[in-house]
Amino acid sequence: MTDALKLGFGPFNVPAKGVLVVFCDDGLRFGSASAKALGSATGLVARAAKAERFTGKSGASLDLIMPEGLTVSRLAVIGVGKVAELTAKDFLKLGGMALGKLPAAATDGTIFADLPGAAKGGAKSGPMTAEQAADLALGARLRAYKFDRYKTKKKDDDTTAARRTVTIATADVTAARKAFAARDTTADGIELARDLVNEPANVLYPDEFARRTLALKKLGVAVEVFDVKAMKKLGMNALLGVSQGSAHDGRMVVMRWNGGKKNDAPLAFIGKGVCFDTGGISIKPAAGMEDMKGDMAGAACVVGLMHALAARKAKVNAVGLIGCVENMPDGNAQRPGDIVKSMSGQTIEIINTDAEGRLVLADVLWYAAKRFKPKFMIDLATLTGAIIVALGQEYAGMFTNNDELSHRLHLSGEATGELVWRMPLNPAYDKMLDSKFADMKHTGGSRWGGAITAAQFIQRFVADKTPWVHLDIAGTGFDSRLTDINKSWGSGWGVRLLDKLVADYYEK
Ligand code: BES
Ligand code: MN
Ligand code: ZN
Repeated sequence: MTDALKLGFGPFNVPAKGVLVVFCDDGLRFGSASAKALGSATGLVARAAKAERFTGKSGASLDLIMPEGLTVSRLAVIGVGKVAELTAKDFLKLGGMALGKLPAAATDGTIFADLPGAAKGGAKSGPMTAEQAADLALGARLRAYKFDRYKTKKKDDDTTAARRTVTIATADVTAARKAFAARDTTADGIELARDLVNEPANVLYPDEFARRTLALKKLGVAVEVFDVKAMKKLGMNALLGVSQGSAHDGRMVVMRWNGGKKNDAPLAFIGKGVCFDTGGISIKPAAGMEDMKGDMAGAACVVGLMHALAARKAKVNAVGLIGCVENMPDGNAQRPGDIVKSMSGQTIEIINTDAEGRLVLADVLWYAAKRFKPKFMIDLATLTGAIIVALGQEYAGMFTNNDELSHRLHLSGEATGELVWRMPLNPAYDKMLDSKFADMKHTGGSRWGGAITAAQFIQRFVADKTPWVHLDIAGTGFDSRLTDINKSWGSGWGVRLLDKLVADYYEK
């Protein structure tokens, strides 16, 4: 759900009203268009900066209300630090910060896509490139996202009946609009993913999740929904064991986008879709358990990505597969000690029913490799608390059997700001999964290296040596800290990363 925001591009005209946002560097220098716009207010800005000790450092800002010499109601100056050090992801952040300068009630805002000196990959002076201006717009759009579907009372500052209009002033309006078009569809995918993560589990249970993916059909995506009977037939007992303690049946959804050559092997994206994770019989403590409505962030990302690819008619074949279940403790729930036979034929001894995500992935990954023989598989899962201990909320953990994919994802991460950090796989960790009773246990039995043993487990279900990446997004899929480009909770993490990966390396 987006805040009513009308986002557009226009030339460098000084707005008559509303809020004007300009950028300056850490020498308090402005781009030429900004300097011209400030005109006689320049001295006032310098005095205010001095009084407020504003030096244009990255992340700092200065607000002037009803500035003399301008007719706008507010002038916001945002510091960017050193212009030469700015990269693509910084423009996203700046766009988010700029939007944050518009009080909700203000109808008009104008953001000058203009800098003093040149940014990396930028023009020699002044105006931002079309790409940079478009990134600014994307950041503003993501910042404006709100999930307030369940708030029945409007807030005082939210009295806007009218939509707010935000104009990004830029040197080449046509080029900026064009550059933004591709980002706009990515933003649709991100917002879709955020909506899914933010929805409570009484609304978004597996069947409802599956229903929501049907909307992708409008974009030309083929959608198949597998119910319990269909999954039983396939032998997906690892996944089904997780959902057997819930009143809501599990579902698997397969989404196919064929924008590439007819016989090209598809790229496969697989998501953990645990709509709520109580831990099952190995029940979780009460504190913070509400966050486990977001335990389907991996699946949400896959759906958002499929949306983004289809909406921009990506020249690639891609499949998205999500395993949707609810992990609940009831009389029929799976027990520690139970042994299940996965679709692969391998048997699994259940140790801790709270390690449910890997069981879901085991069957869906196996199915994905066997049915589609994909070029690669990337799975996303809010899999372990251990990855949060290791990496916090800045990086997702990356495990892979393929160095080239690792390198490409690393670069896509640096470019988008959705960062991944490679973690090890090693037979010594794999050995920790040996079981007395079955082909394997499903946890390492120790907290040490918990994210790694989880990845080792999943690797046992990667059929035919398919190139594979596992992204543990437990720390990044939702974010209660709130950032410059996300004021909700569900982050939509991974949509930009994977959209970029596809665009840079797999579209011809
Ligand atoms: N969904 C959780 C992991 C998680 C924790 C995601 C916090 C996001 C935030 C997962 O199913 C889980 O419970 N993992 C256990 C595994 C353990 C029982 C081996 C964990 O990490 O404690
Ligand atoms: Mn769990
Ligand atoms: Zn879980």
